[in-house]
Amino acid sequence: MTVLVTGGAGYIGSHAVQRLLRDGERVVALDNEFRGHAKAMQLLSQAHPGKLTYVKADINDRTKVLATMDDHGVHTVMHFAALAYVGESVSQPLNYYHNNVSGLISVLAACDAARVPVQKFVFSSSCATYGQPPANMIPVPETCPQSPVSPYGWTKLHGEHILRDFAAARANAGNPIALTMLRYFNVAGSDHTGLIGEDHTPETHMIPVVLQAALGLRSEVGIFGTDYPTPDGTCIRDYVHVEDLIDAHVLAMAKVKPGTPAAYNVGIGKGYSVREIIDATRKVTDRQFKIVEQPRRPGDPPMLYNDSRKISSELGWKAKFTDLHEIIGTAWRWFQKHPQGYRS
Ligand code: UFG
Repeated sequence: MTVLVTGGAGYIGSHAVQRLLRDGERVVALDNEFRGHAKAMQLLSQAHPGKLTYVKADINDRTKVLATMDDHGVHTVMHFAALAYVGESVSQPLNYYHNNVSGLISVLAACDAARVPVQKFVFSSSCATYGQPPANMIPVPETCPQSPVSPYGWTKLHGEHILRDFAAARANAGNPIALTMLRYFNVAGSDHTGLIGEDHTPETHMIPVVLQAALGLRSEVGIFGTDYPTPDGTCIRDYVHVEDLIDAHVLAMAKVKPGTPAAYNVGIGKGYSVREIIDATRKVTDRQFKIVEQPRRPGDPPMLYNDSRKISSELGWKAKFTDLHEIIGTAWRWFQKHPQGYRS
């Protein structure tokens, strides 16, 4: 049995590849290298000789995806491949729908057309599908109404709807698929061994931005909004360590049964403000950097953190990294060793 990891050369996908290889699974990773890194695949291949197949291809190339499934006897798909910048999705909505929605349809069509149809599918959804949850829905449960406020969020919500219809059709046809949709909160940190890590161009995420400032690669860090209705006036987010996030995928793959689609939020259940991230980063790195208070960034919800009860009780998931300093520490190790990402 082989697991296909789409977007396997990206930040989260490469951590999934690493974990699956460690667990002894046969893995085929597929990536178009638009934002993924061939170097990550090379490092993981070297660390696990003969266990990883890497295919450079676009998910919209259905023929290639299907051939990959047939060549390797793919049983399970972890579908990470997507564009994932909220701001960019506002200026390039068609690009986002093409990659995230058409791309998903292409992969699902291949799942059905494969000589042995794919039996398990784990989808990277997002808490962006909730948009701005009402105050009485924070912490956010899976039952919170989904009402995205960005094209990115809509692509993920459309993805969930497509997947539910796909799963229903498969069940009606007597070949049910085990489908899990994982709605990620803010993913952070790097592999604890330091082999692979986060390397985005452009980098806009809070923790890497602050670490780049600590390294002197940025002259300052902007705080986007200091007048939010939160204790220190800055936005609050739930930062889940990438290895804990992958744990959720592995549990989903093992535990979710064919037939009824399952959706889970993945976040540690605790929120940290932008100022808390900055303070923790100063402590972890022991470096100073300039902070500039700026206006709000459009579309930022003031407060988002997870109600993690469903995933805990149904999948037995529990975050191992709950200490912010520890989460930032894993990212810091990677950034110190690779200030220019995989180029260094
Ligand atoms: N922030 C700053 N300065 C920066 C960067 C970020 O103040 O230089 C703030 C943001 O305004 C926000 C918080 O830090 O309040 C976190 O911002 P990120 O850009 O790191 O993450 P987002 O919460 O915007 O986005 C994340 C994921 C998306 C997902 C979204 C759901 O990256 O994929 O959560 O809300 F869709």
